[in-house]
Amino acid sequence: MLFTSLKVAVLSLLAANAAAKTIQINAGGNGKDFSPSSVTAAKGDVIEFHFLKSLHNVAAGDFAKACSPLTTGGFYSGFIQPKSGGPTVFQVTVNSTDPIFYYCSVGNHCQDGMVGVVNPTSNLTLDKYASSAKSASSNISPDALYGGKLIQASDVTASASSTASSSPSSTSGNGASSTTGNSPTQTKATGAAGQLSVSLLAIAGVAAGAAAFAM
Ligand SMILES: *[C@@H]1O[C@H](CO)[C@@H](O)[C@H](O)[C@H]1NC(C)=O
Ligand SMILES: *[C@@H]1O[C@H](CO)[C@@H](O)[C@H](O)[C@H]1NC(C)=O
Repeated sequence: MLFTSLKVAVLSLLAANAAAKTIQINAGGNGKDFSPSSVTAAKGDVIEFHFLKSLHNVAAGDFAKACSPLTTGGFYSGFIQPKSGGPTVFQVTVNSTDPIFYYCSVGNHCQDGMVGVVNPTSNLTLDKYASSAKSASSNISPDALYGGKLIQASDVTASASSTASSSPSSTSGNGASSTTGNSPTQTKATGAAGQLSVSLLAIAGVAAGAAAFAM
């Protein structure tokens, strides 16, 4: 019994560790768009908005009031005009599996369909949000960046490899991070997994010892 509960604890620890991932969403790669515009994410995952072209931003929005920021919580990247050497990647940590709607508050980009969702539900859908965005009377920007971290694409290590597996729709290698990031991330991941395996073995050993002793 001791062995079983320890094993369960360690296995769920491994599962939690394996599940944390980085999800890349491209902004402005194809006009006024987020791509992919709908993703699912687990608690602890990091959403990475990669700003590719033209002036855009991303703000977490209120489902009930399209193109308006959330009144509590959420995030806002501030205006981003991508240029080489400047920060173009906005990272936000997902804290729950509740739906997160977001939009670009530049000009009429929200009304024009530059919206997206993380973890839509059957009645809180991107279609509904986009359709109320279309008729929103204004497109409102929060005052200043909050709720996330703005970094340079060259500081991103995780996105290239995780994107490949998590969002099949974004196949375009956008140069920002396609080749550079792999080895540090993999090294880190292997290290963590290695450590966990070692403790798994250690705990299994202790448990086996305890079991032997009990017999
Ligand atoms: C979504 O659907 C659920 C179950 O049908 C309901 O309880 C909930 O109030 C709905 N939410 C909205 C915003 O319509
Ligand atoms: C998650 O929590 C952090 C810290 O409170 C916050 O900065 C971030 O905006 C939250 N993420 C979302 C998606 O609201």
